[in-house]
Amino acid sequence: MFPIEKFSSIRTPFYYYDMALLDATLQEIQKYLKPNYHMHYAVKACTNADVLKHVAQAGFGCDCVSGGEIEACLAAGIKAQDIVFAGVGKSDWEIELGLKAGIGFFNVESIPELEVINEMAKERNTTAHVSFRINPNVGAHTHANITTGLAENKFGIDMEDMVDVIRMAQQMSNIQFMGLHFHIGSQLLVMDDFIALCHRVNELQDKLEAEGIQVPNINVGGGLGIDYQDPDGNPIPNFKAYFEAYNDNLKLREGQHLHFELGRAVVAQCGSLISKVLFVKKGHYKQFAIVDAGMTDLIRPALYDAYHLVQNITSPENAPEKYDVVGPICESSDVFVKDHTMPAVKRGDLVAFRSAGAYGEIMASQYNCRRLPQGISSEKL
Ligand code: LLP
Repeated sequence: MFPIEKFSSIRTPFYYYDMALLDATLQEIQKYLKPNYHMHYAVKACTNADVLKHVAQAGFGCDCVSGGEIEACLAAGIKAQDIVFAGVGKSDWEIELGLKAGIGFFNVESIPELEVINEMAKERNTTAHVSFRINPNVGAHTHANITTGLAENKFGIDMEDMVDVIRMAQQMSNIQFMGLHFHIGSQLLVMDDFIALCHRVNELQDKLEAEGIQVPNINVGGGLGIDYQDPDGNPIPNFKAYFEAYNDNLKLREGQHLHFELGRAVVAQCGSLISKVLFVKKGHYKQFAIVDAGMTDLIRPALYDAYHLVQNITSPENAPEKYDVVGPICESSDVFVKDHTMPAVKRGDLVAFRSAGAYGEIMASQYNCRRLPQGISSEKL
């Protein structure tokens, strides 16, 4: 699956994006989108320009969390009205950018933010389209660092305040209330979590209706997980189950639009971090494969204890051996995987860290004055 002969001239480490797999994934999602369903790809997962271009060609909008992301989306040809903008701390320049571009929705997370957006829209003689991010207090079965929908998290507005906040918005001169936004967490593989969200949204809608409040748009965020253990067995996530969970459980009202913000499920499997083996070091207790990629290139294992399958792509036919695969950074957490069995590697071999298309390249840093990894799509080779 990797065009390994073309890799020899590329400086490692680098991210490789398989655009055929990305396109197949986008097509699979399109199968389940009804006319009133809208997909806003969560750009925070990966902003590689070719990836964004294909997402735009598929007709998807984007979910952004910074001015930089909005700029990247506009440059990639995403229409401003298909952009939604979330985040608990939007800076003035970012709000201004959103107003000027005419983005679809500001997903507002607090009353002070609402007031500032109203003021800034008034100064510019325009109207801001606003959805409220509601904290639904739904627990999700995932890593503690990536759950977001609990009352104790910093995200969103508490449910009990929802009616008052909507009424406040409806009184404001330069705000148009557009709907409700939710996101309960990431890397969710249990559909029950999404179903629990549906039930919560249904309750909230009943409550709002009783108050005479109409909600034109519901945005359920993202969160669908992928198979990190077996990327070749499951290259495309289970979108059928995901959309069925919403189709079967969410009670949409007549004319209501449903929005999604999937990130990881769209791009994770199409991306791999390609790295070169520098040394094989045999210790007394362990054998280390020291590679030229480090936690600066792929921080997920160090930050979340995340697992990425490592494959020897130069000599996949070699007899297996056991390694701790580690990077060159001066931190003891710079370990990708321990006691990992893979075909024996030697200096100069290439290894692939799989399922790294989401939250990989975009989270890279320059700690230790390292160069950022390049991102290369299969169409550029
Ligand atoms: N919408 C909102 C409001 C979000 O906060 C997120 C992710 C998404 C959508 C997209 O979620 P996804 O479909 O990708 O699960 N860096 C972490 C993941 C952080 C996710 C943050 N929010 C990781 O590497 O696992």
